[in-house]
Amino acid sequence: MRVLITRPIPETGVALLREAGHAVNVLPHDRPASPEELRAASEGVEGLLTMLTDKVDAAFLAERPRLKAIANYAVGFNNIDVGACTERRIGVTNTPDVLTSATAEVAWTLLMAAARRAGEAERALRAGLWDGWGPLQYLGVDVVDQTLGVVGAGRIGARFAQMAAGFNMRLLYCNRRPSVAMEALGATLVSFDELLARADFVSLHVPLTAETRHMMGAAAFSRMKPSAVLINTARGAVIDEAALVEALRRRQIFAAGLDVFDEEPKLHPGLYELENVVILPHIGSATVRTRQVMSRLAAENLLAMLGDRRPKTPVNPELWG
Ligand code: GLV
Ligand code: GLV
Repeated sequence: MRVLITRPIPETGVALLREAGHAVNVLPHDRPASPEELRAASEGVEGLLTMLTDKVDAAFLAERPRLKAIANYAVGFNNIDVGACTERRIGVTNTPDVLTSATAEVAWTLLMAAARRAGEAERALRAGLWDGWGPLQYLGVDVVDQTLGVVGAGRIGARFAQMAAGFNMRLLYCNRRPSVAMEALGATLVSFDELLARADFVSLHVPLTAETRHMMGAAAFSRMKPSAVLINTARGAVIDEAALVEALRRRQIFAAGLDVFDEEPKLHPGLYELENVVILPHIGSATVRTRQVMSRLAAENLLAMLGDRRPKTPVNPELWG
């Protein structure tokens, strides 16, 4: 069958699909495909391996009657209208589990860098502005013995919380229901408002939905401690970026660490000017090994769906009974 991979990915998955006899076209540019390129290249394909930057909506699906299967190269799938896919009996898969640790590691990278002002200090050093050790220089906030607030207790949130063990932190979390993994770590389930008020570090691990969009807005920032640090490795739109810039400017919170943004690759211009924010270009799953395993999983999912078998990690499992 005809398969389109919308951007070069590690070879493992591409090879699997080709070995299975599919006609695989990989778009050659190492940048997101434009909507026009995506439309042109996907004509007549049965299988699509998409990036989180590819928008798959009902209008696109209506023009693609042959499409059977979409394997998203990401754990998040807010770029795909899953309801419209299910209606057309198009299978959708994501890549959970394999990127859990890598993403939790980036959340910790951001937490430590924001707490200890690592980005700001390194910028000053590189700019030749450092005149030697100083007792009042770059004073950050402590991590050990503090309270960690985890918003969203899915796989990544739970792994992130587990990694706090060496820092002897109190764990709070909020979630729609109690989480076995979080309870096993001794974490306490609290309301979103209570978590904001008590946590020294607030880390976001929720999917982007109508309910979570802009859940971190002006009202949420006003509940946080002035010494608190906000971390986001989920989706940018969970935060109202303009409200965050305001909160950081007014020192309503101490700092933020962000790996994701509302309109990537664009950032709210205020973020570039602030010293108390650490910004990374969406590298949560970006390790050599993780991206290889994601490539294999996405390809295996596509192979299963094209062969009318249940894939390993379906997003709309109801299609396979
Ligand atoms: C990355 O953001 C992912 O959803 O995998
Ligand atoms: C710092 O470098 C110290 O020795 O306290």
